[in-house]
Amino acid sequence: MTRSQTTTLADRRAGGAQPLIEARSVTRILEGVVPTTLVHDIDLAIGDNEFVAVTGPSGSGKSSLLYLLGLLDLPTSGEVRIHGKSTAHMSEAERAYTRLSELGFVFQFHFLLPEFSALQNVTLPMRALGRLSREEMDARGLMLLASLGLAEHAHKRPDQLSGGQRQRVAVARALANDAPVILADEPTGSLDSKSSEQVFQILRDLVDERGKTVVAVTHDLDLARRMDRQVELMDGAIVSDKRAGR
Ligand SMILES: Nc1ncnc2c1ncn2[C@@H]1O[C@H](COP(=O)(O)OP(=O)(O)O)[C@@H](O)[C@H]1O
Ligand SMILES: [Mg+2]
Repeated sequence: MTRSQTTTLADRRAGGAQPLIEARSVTRILEGVVPTTLVHDIDLAIGDNEFVAVTGPSGSGKSSLLYLLGLLDLPTSGEVRIHGKSTAHMSEAERAYTRLSELGFVFQFHFLLPEFSALQNVTLPMRALGRLSREEMDARGLMLLASLGLAEHAHKRPDQLSGGQRQRVAVARALANDAPVILADEPTGSLDSKSSEQVFQILRDLVDERGKTVVAVTHDLDLARRMDRQVELMDGAIVSDKRAGR
């Protein structure tokens, strides 16, 4: 296949523009006495400014897919592409750099470092990327926290914050390096309904107002329906991929 044909195919998959993040024939098998297939032959192209729900029953491979898209795990076969560039043959350092600059993560449990303040947690990915001075990092971290309604909590440790506040700090951390893609695994899964709604609205705003692409795993179908596209997994494979009008 020539390069131009490859591009055409990729364009078609994303409905026009080059995908921002794409899985091509991605299979992940865990080796063991009994090998386990986590996901099988996944083709998924996600473009700019999309809000995608990944749904499916427990054990259907949602987290596995998110980890693969996020370069936190490697496919057994197939590849993940970011901005049209294959990540298959990247060194661990290149992969880490791509993760830091292109992807932000929010998990069900916030995974904030307990001994660090909210601000220090948010500036951590900036420090790892090393593009900004200390003053710039602190200013950006404060700006991000303020934009999520956490200005007065910047110097508190996670244990001094509520569950919803901690999850908003985790979102601020995901935005630290202004990555175009935010990957979220059950981001509202451990929150009460009010905090859950608040975090959902924040993700909605990231797409509508900051131009981000958000891919969120959820088993909450009401929440999924309020996103713009629903990708459904079953036994490690995509069984439906729908775009819903809002
Ligand atoms: N480290 C692991 N060891 C063994 N099995 C695993 C591991 N991680 C995931 N699995 C299995 O792979 C399947 C997919 O898991 P996962 O991606 O976590 O699903 P989901 O997020 O949809 O609940 C499940 O059957 C799960 O039990
Ligand atoms: Mg999961």
